[in-house]
Amino acid sequence: MSLLEITNLTARYASAAGDVLKGINVSVEEGEIVTLLGANGAGKSTTLRSISGLVPFTSGTITLNGQSLLGQGVEAIARLGVSHVPEGRRVFPGLTVTENIMLGASNRKGVSRAEMMREVDEKFDLVPDLIRLKDALGWTLSGGQLQMVAVARGLMAKPRVLLLDEPSLGLAPLIVQQVFKIVAEIRKRGTTVLLVEQNANVALSVADRGYVLETGRVLVSGKPKDLWNDPQVRAAYLGGHAIA
Ligand SMILES: Nc1ncnc2c1ncn2[C@@H]1O[C@H](COP(=O)(O)OP(=O)(O)O)[C@@H](O)[C@H]1O
Ligand SMILES: [Mg+2]
Repeated sequence: MSLLEITNLTARYASAAGDVLKGINVSVEEGEIVTLLGANGAGKSTTLRSISGLVPFTSGTITLNGQSLLGQGVEAIARLGVSHVPEGRRVFPGLTVTENIMLGASNRKGVSRAEMMREVDEKFDLVPDLIRLKDALGWTLSGGQLQMVAVARGLMAKPRVLLLDEPSLGLAPLIVQQVFKIVAEIRKRGTTVLLVEQNANVALSVADRGYVLETGRVLVSGKPKDLWNDPQVRAAYLGGHAIA
């Protein structure tokens, strides 16, 4: 049994006609980094929102560790072990880095202040660039720093699976490399990651497996090397270069 199993998932927005997701099958094994790739509008974010309960899915199943997420609220799903780092980071501008990170634990009961501070320190150990910024307000941070705070906050929920939506968006290539180094380290420390990206190159460099979505369907899935060498995928998403 996979840690996260999505079968025949369809989903739609109340405000729009028709299904946005048209029967998606995705599985994530414990300890993996799996990436969802695809062009803007393919349904990547909607898939993550369906998992975390932000968009109710209309049919299909989603299970975490064998337990159905159907009909569970956002908070219940978070407690079961899903943490969603949304597109756009959503760091509070008027709170400090430490305060923003601590907010990620708000769904957990009975965590002492001392324990909380120890866990925040663990996050600074994971992202050393944030230590000197721990008292800086959100609005003063760069895009890369905001992304790192958002990831650290997501980890404070102690998730079984971390959902990351386009962490590379709008960041300079060097900063993207730093963010993905952290993603690899997160997995090394034991958290499973489902990573949504438009930047296929970097995503496939850290992922164990990937899925390419196109207009609400899985076009193709496989190991990074298979995706790299799939002519259809290569032409559409990978800039045309094959690897041996
Ligand atoms: N809140 C919304 N209301 C209505 N339609 C939406 C909403 N969010 C996304 N969509 C539509 O759903 C489709 C998939 O969007 P999305 O999951 O955000 O794609 P991606 O993350 O792959 O760029 C798009 O056609 C988009 O226009
Ligand atoms: Mg998106």
